[in-house]
Amino acid sequence: MRHEAIEKNLHLMMVLIVIAISIGGLVEIIPLMMSSDATEPDEGIEVYSPLRLAGRDVYVREGCYNCHSQMIRPFRSETERYGPFTTAGETVYDRPFQFGSKRTGPDLARVGGRYSDDWQRLHLIDPRALVPESNMPAYPWLADNAVDGDLVTAKLKVLRMLGDPYTDEQVAGAAAAVAGKTELDAVIAYLQGLGTNRRNRR
Ligand code: HEC
Repeated sequence: MRHEAIEKNLHLMMVLIVIAISIGGLVEIIPLMMSSDATEPDEGIEVYSPLRLAGRDVYVREGCYNCHSQMIRPFRSETERYGPFTTAGETVYDRPFQFGSKRTGPDLARVGGRYSDDWQRLHLIDPRALVPESNMPAYPWLADNAVDGDLVTAKLKVLRMLGDPYTDEQVAGAAAAVAGKTELDAVIAYLQGLGTNRRNRR
């Protein structure tokens, strides 16, 4: 009978629905806001070095995420292939994060150290020279583009404003850290650091 009274009273029903949904929402959201797991870096996770930061932006600009995810899911098939699953604390300095779900190519979350710098260099310039059946595009122009030191310095300053703990020395030394480097060097530095905070692939 009481149920019928609620069903026949539109306003009472609306209020009760809002209360029910709010409880569900708060139970999910509040623990996440309190938990440091999602907001503080995992052990071994540090702000991106100037060169890696530049490389990360090349990665985003070239759309590598259209074919490569950076999120290992907690399933056995994934962890067997790629290594330990991805945690929130690993991605606190990723703006924006590169999780993705499209895997034309393999997940790259733990690709760091899997190949040598020379392998990465050749592969990016001509993927089919190393993997004949690859359909990954070639990115030869990265070797010709210099990294802009002033731009990297400006990026560090912005990230510091947003809360990333860059020191004054890091900001002051940013331009020198990328001097003479190409975008290819930068993207390789970025790739080689991915996922190295935790045990790499078996
Ligand atoms: C059109 C889809 C596509 C795009 C875009 C793409 N890749 Fe790939 N990538 C692949 C495929 C497919 C493979 C697997 C074959 C191979 O190794 O070439 C691969 C392999 C790789 C590997 C080796 C991974 C491993 O575990 O063996 C790396 C590193 C990589 N890509 C980096 C990049 C970077 C950096 C970019 C952007 C500059 C990029 N890819 C853009 C498709 C793509």
